[in-house]
Amino acid sequence: MARAVGGANQADPARLSPLLGAVGTAPCTLTIRERGLCVKIVIPAETRAGEKRVAMMPSVVRKFTQLGFDVAVQSGAGREAFADDAAYTEAEAQVFDEAALTEQIAGADVVASVRPLDYGRASRLRRGGVSISFLSPAQDTETIKALRDAGATGLSFDLLPRISRAQSMDALTSQALVAGYRAALVGADRLPSFFPLFMTAAGTIQPAKVLVLGAGVAGLQAIATAKRIGAKVSAYDVRPASADEVKSMGATFITLDLEALEGSGGYAREMSEDRADRQREALTPYISDADVVITTAAVPGRQAPLLVTRAMVETMKPGSVVVDLASETGGNVEGSVSGEEILVGQVTVWGAKDVASEMPVHASQLYAMNIAALAGLLVKEGEFVVDLEDEVLDGCAVVHDGEVRNEAAQQALQGGA
Ligand code: NAI
Repeated sequence: MARAVGGANQADPARLSPLLGAVGTAPCTLTIRERGLCVKIVIPAETRAGEKRVAMMPSVVRKFTQLGFDVAVQSGAGREAFADDAAYTEAEAQVFDEAALTEQIAGADVVASVRPLDYGRASRLRRGGVSISFLSPAQDTETIKALRDAGATGLSFDLLPRISRAQSMDALTSQALVAGYRAALVGADRLPSFFPLFMTAAGTIQPAKVLVLGAGVAGLQAIATAKRIGAKVSAYDVRPASADEVKSMGATFITLDLEALEGSGGYAREMSEDRADRQREALTPYISDADVVITTAAVPGRQAPLLVTRAMVETMKPGSVVVDLASETGGNVEGSVSGEEILVGQVTVWGAKDVASEMPVHASQLYAMNIAALAGLLVKEGEFVVDLEDEVLDGCAVVHDGEVRNEAAQQALQGGA
């Protein structure tokens, strides 16, 4: 529980600057030091099968402990991200076995995890304690119920407002960056040909043609990575604003004779069936011509739009590759299977599953920095407080003080009740 601490735990002001860089919310961290407040952060091991990330890497833990925070980590929490218990101990965290760590949750101010806590652990939070994770309002009803009944707060990165001030906290962005990078590598790895141009004494090999559909955070990173490896890259997005970003990466933006679908907050709108048909027809020649197609299209709160039919995949050259990053949310590519690599004719179709988790070191490091930035908002004028006057906290607090605040979560709870 947050408490005032004595001199021994007080941070040295000269050592504050690294955290200020990571957090980007200097006033909060300064008040911690000035008032001598100590906040306790608990990092459990992830429990979902296949999840390799950890919410906090030792380098970020150190920044907290240097400020006088208490950090408790479950033994083995960082194993899959190559952060062993000794590294956490060296960063001045306390390491606990599973049972003892569960006890620690009851005294925590913040419990940080990648996936939402399970019901048992969420129930242990104290009134006023805060859980930070990718809490899905419509799906994680058991966790939300437990947090509500405990009088705790559930902050979800899924709902973080996309405003400039919150950029350092944006875990959707940091993890999409990892996914986009990896999508391009998967394409290069599965393609039985080179990505770059090769001019050899025996002749010239032309570069691979990579087509990226959906040029948001993941798509732009896929473009940048494919370009770095030497492919010839083109991209399409329904938001005209993305054209300049695509071009700034050195890729060609494909303009189709179709209406734009710019929605609110910079996001795309859903396509009508007729618009979707026309888009697929217009994209077919580009798909046929590509060696690698990477799809990343998403519309918030909706199933992923179907951009590429099986018939379109069948027009691609033998050996071509399709990487469907949207596989887990319904798929942009007909027939793609999340977590599997299948053949459609002689084309490999790779369906994404937990992509960011497959690059756990940097995915965890970026996530930890997002956690640090968001946790920085929880200290105001020397007090540990969830201030819902702050639009960032207001936006991402799914549950607070015994109340479920998010409409989708309320509906899911009513449906399940
Ligand atoms: P997203 O993950 O929601 O969707 C990926 C991309 O798919 C988007 O670019 C979207 O326009 C595109 N798309 C949707 N339907 C499509 C279709 N039928 N055909 C082709 N493409 C389609 O997007 P993401 O990466 O979350 O970015 C959404 C917006 O948020 C962008 O404007 C981005 O610049 C902005 N953003 C703002 C941030 C901030 O201010 N803190 C942080 C990150 C992103």
